[in-house]
Amino acid sequence: MIWGVDMRRRFAIAPDLNLLNHGSFGSCPREVLARQLAWRDAMEADPIAFMEAARGRLRDVVSQVAPRLGAQPEDLALVENATTGVSAVLRSLVFKPGDRLVTTSHVYGAVRNAMRWVAERAGATVVEVPVPWPVESPEQVVAALTAALPGARLVVLDWITSPTGMVWPIEAMVRACQREGVPVLVDAAHAPGHVPMDLDALGADWTTGNLHKWMFAAKGTAVLHVRKDRQAEIVPLAISHDLDRGFPLSFDQTATRDLSSWLSTPAALAFVDELGQADLQAHNNTLCAHMADELADMWGVTVPAPPTMRAALAALPTPGDVPAERAAWLHTALQGRRIEVPCVPFAGRTWVRISAQVYNHPDEYRALGRAVLELLND
Ligand SMILES: Cc1ncc(COP(=O)(O)O)c(C=O)c1O
Repeated sequence: MIWGVDMRRRFAIAPDLNLLNHGSFGSCPREVLARQLAWRDAMEADPIAFMEAARGRLRDVVSQVAPRLGAQPEDLALVENATTGVSAVLRSLVFKPGDRLVTTSHVYGAVRNAMRWVAERAGATVVEVPVPWPVESPEQVVAALTAALPGARLVVLDWITSPTGMVWPIEAMVRACQREGVPVLVDAAHAPGHVPMDLDALGADWTTGNLHKWMFAAKGTAVLHVRKDRQAEIVPLAISHDLDRGFPLSFDQTATRDLSSWLSTPAALAFVDELGQADLQAHNNTLCAHMADELADMWGVTVPAPPTMRAALAALPTPGDVPAERAAWLHTALQGRRIEVPCVPFAGRTWVRISAQVYNHPDEYRALGRAVLELLND
C-alpha cells in the first residue's frame, strides 16, 4: 500500500482536486461514510426503537474514543463540533463585571466571538495576549501567556492554532494557568488524531476537540472533556430531557437529531488502527515538514515556526509579502485551478496554510508552489 496514491481511493475527494486543506473540515474515508449511511437506514427503519437504544450505543462509542485521548469515558461527552464544545462551557459559566477572560492573538475567530459575547453580557472583558509570529520557541509562548495570568478569571488556549498551524506547548501553558489558579479551557479542535493526547495527565478544566478533522470521523463529531470537579456546572447548549442526569449523559441525547455521524465513529477508529496512529502521525508530520521546506525554497521565504512547534499543518508567508487584503483573492484564484488551501489574513499579511494527510502526494504541493508564483507574477 503506497500512501498518497493508493490511499486517495479510500476517500471521496473529487479526482481533479488538490485538497491541501485537511485541517478545515477533514476528509472522511468512504467506509466511514458507508457506515454512517447504514446507521441512517437503521434509524429510519425503526425510529422509536433506534432512539431508545441510542443511549447505550453512544456510550459505547465514547468508551472506544476515550482511551485514544487518555481520558475516562465518564469525563467525555459527544458534541457536534469544537465550536459547540467551547460555547457549552462559556455559556455554562457565570461571569461578573470586571472579570478578565484571556486568550491569545492566534485565537480562532468563532471562539473569539463566543468569548466576546459572554463577556459583553456580563460586563467582563476579553484580553488577547500577543504571541510573536514568527515564533522562535515554545518558551516565548509560555512567557507571553504567563505575563497575562495574574487575576484572570478564565483562559482559553489553542492546542494547535488555526491561522498559523502551530502546536503549542499546551502542558506548560496549562501548568502556568494552574500555578496562578486560573481555570483553563483548551480548544483542541485540531488535536485528536493529529498529536498524541493524554487528557487525564493534562488536567485542564475543560477540553474540546474534533474527531471529524484528524480522526477521520463523519462531519459533526467532536468531544467535550470536563474534569470531574467541574462537571456539575456544565450543561449542553440545548437543555433537554436528560438535564438531571448530569454530565456527560445530559449531552448525549439533546432532542431529536441525526446520530449517524457519532455512531459511525468506530469505523473511523478502525481506519486509524489499520494505518497505525503513530505511523500515520509520523508520516503526516514528515510530509508536511518536507513540503513546507520545499515551498519555502521555491518561494524564497522562511517557515515561521520551528519544526518542534509543527505537526501536519504549516503556515507559510506568501512570496513578495501579499497583504492581508488580498488573501481572499488568492484563495479564489487557487480554487480556480482546483487547488484547495487556506489563504489566511493574519498580522497584516497573507499566509498559506498547508495540511498533510495520508491521501496527499508531494506533487500536489509542487503544483501549489508553481500556481502561487504564477498568480503573483501575473
Ligand atoms: C482552533 C480552532 N478552534 C475551533 C475550530 C472550529 O471547529 P468546528 O468548525 O469543527 O467547530 C477550528 C476549526 O478549524 C479551529 O481551528
